[in-house]
Amino acid sequence: MVRISTLSGLALAASSAHALPSANTAPKPHVVGGKPGRFSLPAVKVNETKPGAETRGLRNSVDVGSNDRHPPQPFYLLADSGAPSLTIESTLEPPSHQGNIPKYDPTKSSTAQLLPGYTYSECFVSGYCDNGVVYTDVFTIGSIAVANMPILVQTNNTSPSNGIRSGNLGLNFDKNGMATQPTRLQSPCLDRRLAPVDQAGQLDFGYIDSSKYTGNIAYGGVTTTGGEWTIEVQGIQAGYDDANFRPGKFQVTVDTGSGGGTITRELANLYWSQVPNSKWSDAYDNFLYPCNQTLPDFVITLADGNKVGIPDAGLRWKDENGWCVTYLAIGTSTDVTWGSNFLERYFVIFDWGNSRVGLAQKTYF
Ligand SMILES: *[C@@H]1O[C@H](CO)[C@@H](O)[C@H](O)[C@H]1NC(C)=O
Ligand SMILES: *[C@@H]1O[C@H](CO)[C@@H](O)[C@H](O)[C@H]1NC(C)=O
Ligand SMILES: *[C@@H]1O[C@H](CO)[C@@H](O)[C@H](O)[C@H]1NC(C)=O
Repeated sequence: MVRISTLSGLALAASSAHALPSANTAPKPHVVGGKPGRFSLPAVKVNETKPGAETRGLRNSVDVGSNDRHPPQPFYLLADSGAPSLTIESTLEPPSHQGNIPKYDPTKSSTAQLLPGYTYSECFVSGYCDNGVVYTDVFTIGSIAVANMPILVQTNNTSPSNGIRSGNLGLNFDKNGMATQPTRLQSPCLDRRLAPVDQAGQLDFGYIDSSKYTGNIAYGGVTTTGGEWTIEVQGIQAGYDDANFRPGKFQVTVDTGSGGGTITRELANLYWSQVPNSKWSDAYDNFLYPCNQTLPDFVITLADGNKVGIPDAGLRWKDENGWCVTYLAIGTSTDVTWGSNFLERYFVIFDWGNSRVGLAQKTYF
């Protein structure tokens, strides 16, 4: 069987942060450089060799620390809308667990301060776990620098990481601001964040670039309270004709830290029944259609009643002797997680201020 895309192991399975009763109160994070407001972060896609790691997630460049003798330490972090924490690998790990990625060295930053009494541990769906301590340091992202930013600093993990990703930039949904355990970033610039993600690999904070999408933005209110950016889809159809609408409610967790994404066989049947000449393939565990045919948009309706589609150009995956298969992978669960490979077929808006996620049709694929 050929699996089109499967959920990677980067979804967070469990996490905990502990502060001993004697733990110091963390100093308040505050902006020390740059201007609150709009900024953009380029995102790169890289291959990783960590077992179970997704190869095509979004990684953003950040700087940590400061020192007269050493420059701030630059890192690529995974911008992860499915996780709460800011974590980074460090030179405090046992050498055999350090891998070959860039690691944070608190001894090389004059502004690094250990928060006594704080520890954390987290595990991912892949089985990868890490644990560590908490430092505060200067954290620079985009055009702003935040002092006293609490950072979960790894002191050990279940297996060493290779590649360039040094940690996670948690972008979970939290009404209190950008979450990072055990305290929060209270930076005003990120408190009103709006982070559309597009395929070119860019996150825009604080604004929506209208040149990047076409048509309406369809919005769904966040339906969970656990920190996930989860929304409800009302139904699907092929193309935008109202007569083709088929009701079928399911919850989608919009998780840039995961890989693929699926729909159920029932929903797939509803779409493909509206595509002439399509046929089921056991080998692909999916539908095939003649490649010389243009697919109708795969359209979903969100809670506000607006429809958003993925056009032919965003659906096509591969050609097998004139029969094509799409990226619309089929899975068994009704409620699903759509990770970056699925989400990059949309222009995605994380609207923190209005507790909702917006999806729009991208202007290019
Ligand atoms: C990344 O992995 C993909 C799939 O395995 C491969 O086709 C591609 O060449 C790799 N890219 C680099 C830069 O190694
Ligand atoms: C690091 O984690 C590994 C795997 O869980 C464990 O075997 C090892 O004892 C740990 N090392 C330290 C120094 O805690
Ligand atoms: C696609 O190819 C098939 C087989 O060659 C042909 O019968 C059909 O007319 C073609 N359809 C279009 C839309 O070109």
